[in-house]
Amino acid sequence: MNLQGKHALVCGASQGIGRATALALAAEGASITALARTRPALESLLPGLLAKGAPAARALVADADDRPALFAKIELLIAEAGPVHILINNTGGPKAGPILEATEEEFLAAFSRHVLVSHGLVTRVLPGMRDTGYGRIVNVVSTSVKEPIAGLGVSNTTRGAMASWAKTVSKELPPGITINNVLPGYTATERLTALKDSMSQRSGKSGEEIEAEWLRSIPEGRLADPSETAAAIAFLASPDGAYIRGVSLAVDGGRLQSI
Ligand SMILES: NC(=O)c1ccc[n+]([C@@H]2O[C@H](COP(=O)([O-])OP(=O)(O)OC[C@H]3O[C@@H](n4cnc5c(N)ncnc54)[C@H](OP(=O)(O)O)[C@@H]3O)[C@@H](O)[C@H]2O)c1
Repeated sequence: MNLQGKHALVCGASQGIGRATALALAAEGASITALARTRPALESLLPGLLAKGAPAARALVADADDRPALFAKIELLIAEAGPVHILINNTGGPKAGPILEATEEEFLAAFSRHVLVSHGLVTRVLPGMRDTGYGRIVNVVSTSVKEPIAGLGVSNTTRGAMASWAKTVSKELPPGITINNVLPGYTATERLTALKDSMSQRSGKSGEEIEAEWLRSIPEGRLADPSETAAAIAFLASPDGAYIRGVSLAVDGGRLQSI
């Protein structure tokens, strides 16, 4: 999985799966641009990226909810640091809640943050991928692409749109440039803790009860560590993943019921 000479733009890299992915790609020799809103968290990651083996590591502070400013920063990054060979589309999940209680604004914000941001990033990195003959795009989505999850109405809707967008893009990309989705199952990150708290408040169940229910649905019997999700992403981003295109790969300990 040699990624020497490759430049990876990892979105949502300040914590969780994105942070683990930045570290995994660094360990394979890629230069990393780590993007998120929180500067201190990004800056605390940079020494670890260099220690893992990244020849260069930079923080890019940007908000996916401000698309024009985000895209201007990406164009500047490419002008200054050169082509992006690996793009990891990853950002915060939409707010939890029943779909019938969701507002139009919540749907629009989630569609923008996930689909429109991913699309805008792809169109901006694609010329460099074409010129260099190497491109890997990996979207961090959710198992709800295959089986909607109760209580995550806006998220389920948005994830389905992401998966259809990515499959369509996969048919239009030239040889050498792939796009795939990784579908995390229950993964021990800050996002999951927040989800557990929100579900606990809504249901009146304790956090322990909610986690026990989750674990009963997972044949592996435990939550994923973010590094396990990152390992799958790193494989798809590597030369070894060249013939995998347009798939949705669940990293869920066997939780999905569907084939
Ligand atoms: N963990 C799970 O069990 C699980 C399961 C299924 C799907 N997922 C999905 O997988 C993705 C990653 O999950 P995670 O658990 O690693 O999430 P997380 O811990 O919430 O991390 C999200 C990352 O996205 C960044 N981010 C959030 N909003 C942003 C914005 N507006 N602009 C730029 N960056 C933003 C956050 O950094 P800043 O706050 O610093 O910007 C953070 O680095 C999410 O979409 C999540 O919903 C997670």
